[in-house]
Amino acid sequence: MAWTTSDIPPQDGRRAIVTGANSGIGWHAALELARRGADVTLACRSREKGETALKRLKGLVPGARANLGALDLSDPASVRAFAAAEAARPLDLLVNNAGIMAPLRRKTSAAGHEIQFATNHLGHFALTALLLPALRRGKAPRVVCVASIAHRSGRLDFADLMGERRYVPWKAYAQSKLANLLFAFELQRRSDAAGWGLLSAPAHPGVARTRIVVNGLGGGTPNVWTRLADLFAPLYSQSEEAGAEPILFAATSPDVVPGGYYGPDGWREMRGRPVRVDCRPQAKDEAAARRLWEVSEALTGVSFSAA
Ligand SMILES: NC(=O)c1ccc[n+]([C@@H]2O[C@H](COP(=O)([O-])OP(=O)(O)OC[C@H]3O[C@@H](n4cnc5c(N)ncnc54)[C@H](OP(=O)(O)O)[C@@H]3O)[C@@H](O)[C@H]2O)c1
Repeated sequence: MAWTTSDIPPQDGRRAIVTGANSGIGWHAALELARRGADVTLACRSREKGETALKRLKGLVPGARANLGALDLSDPASVRAFAAAEAARPLDLLVNNAGIMAPLRRKTSAAGHEIQFATNHLGHFALTALLLPALRRGKAPRVVCVASIAHRSGRLDFADLMGERRYVPWKAYAQSKLANLLFAFELQRRSDAAGWGLLSAPAHPGVARTRIVVNGLGGGTPNVWTRLADLFAPLYSQSEEAGAEPILFAATSPDVVPGGYYGPDGWREMRGRPVRVDCRPQAKDEAAARRLWEVSEALTGVSFSAA
């Protein structure tokens, strides 16, 4: 029988952080985790949007144990401040979900890094490292990095990681999503080697009708391209709720294996029920993963060895 959110085991006593929890996949992941009893922190960059999401969640799940944390993954100071506030309590689940897709013009983070690489990969890399002590004190701790079908066209361009010489929006997005997978698999290997006790299981939502096109491609406002995408989306995409399912499966199912990758079972993994899926060989390139890890430590100034 296909897995549904009603198969999520009770999450009472588990503490979770979901990044980008005010919208799309992150919102539905946070909502279902709270529904099943988890104590959920909605990590959001906009206080206003975060407060609206928290209020909505508490309205839908009376008695929910949920709170808000301010986190801008593109700002290293914000990542450090958020992690410092969260690190005091043991953490059982970290969902590295927040993301931005293919802004037409190249943008940079507070640290001067290309915005997709900074938000989708570097911010989550630093956040995971800073929260590792809390995860190590957690119960059966899991880390779920939200990747994408887009990793399949991704290539890590170590000579121009930040797209300074040539910025191609989709190429930069695909690179950041490949980085998510390389990081997630390397995290499992390093955890196994060092005895951190983590289960790292990345997942992807297929193609889900969230705000990702308007937020990235549209720069926050609908335009001719985003309207065109909206028009054809029902032909190949699924709802936000369905998109969140593989992430929730990776986050909670007892059938998940360390280093497994999860996504929808339909044609080209665009929609369907959550199952274990394959990734392109470049996501399993251990030498590239080690190099990315070293580069990420250097770029963020955050190291896992401190944990
Ligand atoms: N939707 C899809 O078809 C699809 C497919 C493959 C993978 N994904 C992945 O799924 C994840 C969630 O995307 P979504 O589809 O749910 O899109 P979404 O509706 O646009 O949600 C993205 C979330 O990330 C947050 N975010 C963006 N930049 C941030 C930053 N610098 N710091 C903190 N939070 C930030 C957004 O906050 P604001 O609301 O403040 O902008 C929002 O909460 C992403 O990693 C994306 O790459 C999505």
